[in-house]
Amino acid sequence: MDNFVFDNATKIYFGKDQVKVLPTILENFGKNVLLVYGGGSIKRSGLYDTILELLNGYTIIECANVEPNPHHTTVQRGADLCKSHHIDVILAVGGGSVIDAAKVMGAGAFYDGPIWDMVVNPSLIKEVIPIVSVLTLSGTGSEMNRGSVITNTELNIKKGTGGQNSLPYASIIDPTYMMTLPPIQTAAGAIDAFSHAIENYFKADNDAFMQDALSEAVMKAVIKYAPIALKEPTNYQARANLAWASSLALNGLTGVGKPGPWAVHAIEHELSAYHDLTHGIGLGILIPVWLGFILEQELMPIFVRYGVNVWGINPNQDDSSIAYQAIDKTIEFFKSLNAPLTLTEVNIDSTHFAAMAKSAVKLGRLNQHLFPLDENDVMMILNQCL
Ligand code: NZQ
Ligand code: ZN
Repeated sequence: MDNFVFDNATKIYFGKDQVKVLPTILENFGKNVLLVYGGGSIKRSGLYDTILELLNGYTIIECANVEPNPHHTTVQRGADLCKSHHIDVILAVGGGSVIDAAKVMGAGAFYDGPIWDMVVNPSLIKEVIPIVSVLTLSGTGSEMNRGSVITNTELNIKKGTGGQNSLPYASIIDPTYMMTLPPIQTAAGAIDAFSHAIENYFKADNDAFMQDALSEAVMKAVIKYAPIALKEPTNYQARANLAWASSLALNGLTGVGKPGPWAVHAIEHELSAYHDLTHGIGLGILIPVWLGFILEQELMPIFVRYGVNVWGINPNQDDSSIAYQAIDKTIEFFKSLNAPLTLTEVNIDSTHFAAMAKSAVKLGRLNQHLFPLDENDVMMILNQCL
């Protein structure tokens, strides 16, 4: 295990009706609140009304219509609102897109140049208006990390950013809010959490036993509870376990002490830079193909651990048989969630593959991965996904 600093102070208020603590949390910062949300799911679920009632006495400025894969122009709009209304605290209510956008809006309030600068160059992110989130879609882990992923549709770039002060001050995770999710978003969120664990699991093989055991627990929680949440959308325990697994998958715990970049996310970000693709769905298409591509002798011990510890495959077989069974089980699982398994199913063809491969290798530092990929490798992976 490598040296690391673990630094995560987000206060998590987990469970039914925890939203009641909002006024107490917000009063730490002031009365001017920027309420950031998406395309309307919080209005349909009633959460919007609940929050407005709770925040009676606060001045609420709204920044609505944050789109999935949030655009830099939307983030700019939010940052401008922060400046013109002297916002004290940002309340992000939604999924990863809303929370990601809110974090960069909060940073943009202290920056005079165009917001895209802060995506290209995260070191420009210094101060950030305090962020409080109310999560409605579990998967990204954005409620408990510093990251944001922002898309520039003019340049076809989707890129991560974030600074030391981008961590949400507090997040409310009420599993009942996830009960209104459409099945495809439940599946996508589950695959996203699974993917964060598997990316960390495969990125270094350096005896980080605790981190790997936590990743295994995340994957096992998703394997157990995602099918239940899809079958019974109002099953509280299924929603609760998926939500907590998602937060733990990407709050630092599973990745610290394991150096190296991620591969699948770098490629998925290229797909959604060019196409309006749901993040978790793109990952579900890529993961099995990537696993098959990187399967080789050197990495076999990780595959065997993955097969035996996550999928319960009998260890008394030869290693490559365990590895192939593990990949098959991964495919079967994503299929059982009704997730598309090919790019063709989500209407993506090979038009932009060359540009995507080039950018993925560069932005994702894929040549530095435990299993390095060059542009040709990424092209092959993308073509196999068709
Ligand atoms: O916009 P509304 O109307 O709210 O609808 C949303 C949206 O259409 C809907 N939704 C959310 N909660 C709902 C609901 N519908 C019904 N009931 C609810 N309770 O779901 C749709 C998708 O929402 P979105 O926020 O886009 O999904 P997600 O949470 O998966 O976020 C995806 C974004 O996060 C980034 C992704 O790249 C993508 O841009 N990621 C952020 C990360 C981070 N900050 O650490 C890491 C991830 O790997 C990921 O890259
Ligand atoms: Zn992800």
